[in-house]
Amino acid sequence: MSIYKLLLLPGDGIGPEISAEAEKVLALLNEAGVARFEVERGLVGGAAYDAHKQAISEADMTRALEADAVLLAAVGGPKWDGVPYDLRPESGLLRLRKDLGLFANLRPAICYAALADASSLKRDIVDGLDIMIVRELTGGVYFGEPKEITDLGNGQKRAVDTQVYETYEIERIGRVAFEMARKRGNKVTSSEKSNVMKSGYLWREVITALHKREYADVKLEHMLADALAMQLVRWPKQFDVVVTDNLFGDMLSDEAAMLTGSLGMLPSASLGAADEKGKRHAMYEPCHGSAPDIAGKGIANPIAMIGSLGMALRYSFDLPKAADAIDAAIANVLAKGLRTADIKGDAPSTVSTKEMGDAIVAELKKTL
Ligand code: NAI
Ligand code: MG
Repeated sequence: MSIYKLLLLPGDGIGPEISAEAEKVLALLNEAGVARFEVERGLVGGAAYDAHKQAISEADMTRALEADAVLLAAVGGPKWDGVPYDLRPESGLLRLRKDLGLFANLRPAICYAALADASSLKRDIVDGLDIMIVRELTGGVYFGEPKEITDLGNGQKRAVDTQVYETYEIERIGRVAFEMARKRGNKVTSSEKSNVMKSGYLWREVITALHKREYADVKLEHMLADALAMQLVRWPKQFDVVVTDNLFGDMLSDEAAMLTGSLGMLPSASLGAADEKGKRHAMYEPCHGSAPDIAGKGIANPIAMIGSLGMALRYSFDLPKAADAIDAAIANVLAKGLRTADIKGDAPSTVSTKEMGDAIVAELKKTL
């Protein structure tokens, strides 16, 4: 049986509460003999800061680099507002993304049938929605240099952020999107602002050439990012895989998230480049943050966290059947009417974090 090393980083806020539910699922997977997961635990974010005044320790960074995958819950909150900028809980996340080279962020937006009425859009617009946003995560305007604020000396300041993309960065994220589309609906929508941005112009040129050269069997369309933002709320089911840069991907994936009913539902995967042996660094985490407003109350939705573990099974461990089983277990508990408090709509019963986790484990047990 394959043995996998998983580093679990619960973080702070609701992180430890939702991590505990994912651990129950891991225990069941071990028990059922799906694989052998060896789980190590580490500290990140506020938890790491409180313990040793760092957003992540060097020892835990080393563990992350050695693990087959990292499963992270969430970090951040007002408790750490006063800490120096470079030690903020969120800087632990950025360090992990950067040092693991996680350039591809996959954010699925799936609307479960049982939740189609919990969306802010009408049922027929979102029912059955299943799209995958592929966001470039280590380049673009969040990282480009120069990045600075200069004092102009006349009472004015000047702030600069720089959007930079090189061919290889666009090609490698494009490949992730095309490969993904081949396993799904076989369609990629590439999005930028090639009409007003040089980096967007290059993006379109590179994606077009890559498509022609290696992925002509996949349907490719280009859509300007502002038009895509509009189409996402007009008729989101037209999309299969959307590939875009770091900045647009940040916004478009948050927008897509809201189509599905609750932020508490959405998992994500961040992947690095494969080495010669096909192994790559990967980190899986819910899209939401640490929800300090409800931390410690036992009411957080653990579905995004458990779904993130499901993505790890799919993308790091090549266990698609077990990943499907987790998704089905989630769909089944929702179909039965179980809702955590964050999910809108007329919930037949509102359950706690623990009850939701237990219900998913019980469903999963039936199918493994
Ligand atoms: P948030 O995602 O933590 O919370 C937004 C709203 O959604 C809150 O009302 C919260 O209660 C609710 N919510 C989020 N996840 C939920 C869940 N699983 N179940 C039930 N309700 C849930 O975003 P916010 O409030 O803007 O940020 C809080 C802290 O989290 C900040 O310090 C922020 O920097 C950090 N953050 C961390 C992220 C990460 O760890 N990847 C991502 C986003 C924010
Ligand atoms: Mg965001």
